[in-house]
Amino acid sequence: MDKLDVKINAKSAYSYPIFIGENLINNVYKLISDNTKAKRYLIVTNETIYPLLGKKLASNNSEFIILPDGEIYKNMETLIQITDKALEMKLERNDAIIALGGGVIGDMAGFAASIYRRGIDFIQIPTTLLAQVDSSVGGKVAVNHTSGKNMLGAFYQPQAVISDTSVLKTLDERQYKTGLGEVLKYAFIEHTCSAGKDFNFLEFLENNQNNILKREDKTLCELIKICCTLKSAVVNADEKEKGLRAILNLGHTYAHAIENLTNYKKYTHGEAVSIGIKMVFDLALKLNTVTKNYYDRAVNLLKSYGLLIKTDEVFDKEMFYHVMQGDKKVTEGKLKIVLPNGEKSVEITDNIDKKIILSGI
Ligand SMILES: NC(=O)c1ccc[n+]([C@@H]2O[C@H](COP(=O)([O-])OP(=O)(O)OC[C@H]3O[C@@H](n4cnc5c(N)ncnc54)[C@H](O)[C@@H]3O)[C@@H](O)[C@H]2O)c1
Repeated sequence: MDKLDVKINAKSAYSYPIFIGENLINNVYKLISDNTKAKRYLIVTNETIYPLLGKKLASNNSEFIILPDGEIYKNMETLIQITDKALEMKLERNDAIIALGGGVIGDMAGFAASIYRRGIDFIQIPTTLLAQVDSSVGGKVAVNHTSGKNMLGAFYQPQAVISDTSVLKTLDERQYKTGLGEVLKYAFIEHTCSAGKDFNFLEFLENNQNNILKREDKTLCELIKICCTLKSAVVNADEKEKGLRAILNLGHTYAHAIENLTNYKKYTHGEAVSIGIKMVFDLALKLNTVTKNYYDRAVNLLKSYGLLIKTDEVFDKEMFYHVMQGDKKVTEGKLKIVLPNGEKSVEITDNIDKKIILSGI
């Protein structure tokens, strides 16, 4: 088992561990009780995950809330169901909420933990690849609102994250690929993350493709460790997304518009992200911020993992731009784009001409 210590905000003493390994779930309460003083737990999960993993977490000190499965349930109504269950259990300030699930469950359970009695302990047990490499780390918790995704939320860090690669075996291929969309993103931003160490993640992904696609545990542990190290370096430098943290959104400004204009039904988030990453690479090539050689390497990597790189939708360009602007990452009306500007590095820019931004749509 690997243990990473994530330090949030260099000025504060707060840090939490991320445990990464195979079959950690079989002895999960040891890891949990080492990291919280909680006596009782509310485990938030959904109807898909509960039959697969529920038994492993059943204990005399815990109760489950089993939510319906799907992004459409990531809303205030479901959040209130979680807090109602915590109230019914009479959870106290020093008890804890455990998220057992993917990013949807993690975001909702974390938000519930942040508001229940002004904040109780929160443990993440991410069960999708996307959640293990991305959403469980960094403390962003939220629910959606009719006006947009993740509109209501908070920054709330967990006490611990427990990432078990063995639980990823039951993920369907589409969901696994969705996680890979976020994984590949780290290869293209590695240098800008300034993690203080070179992981050569692009080469790692190029060289370990078979093992990664086969979900081989050792390789996955290494992969998750690198992604979490890169993400936590960025979060540590900029917890509240005042600057650097936006680099984690490589491809996302396009992706959010694609998801929105297809009503969140046609593509998973990760699918939209891989299409969005290809779009920003097209943009970078046009603007001469990357070489043709590096561009080809990036596109080949996306293709070699079987990720989507284009959409068959025909979007209205004005509408697309309007939706991109509606993205909450827009500051003072300027559209921020995370632009590849060299090997493994990106910059955040808000002065690209609208015509060029839309030329690849
Ligand atoms: N907080 C953050 O920083 C952050 C970052 C990225 C994404 N997100 C959020 O994450 C969410 C997407 O997360 P996701 O991709 O994990 O989707 P998800 O949580 O909807 O899970 C995808 C599907 O996989 C199923 N599933 C989960 N674990 C499984 C397992 N072990 N075996 C079989 N099936 C399993 C789920 O029930 C669901 O049907 C979005 O709401 C997005 O906004 C948050």
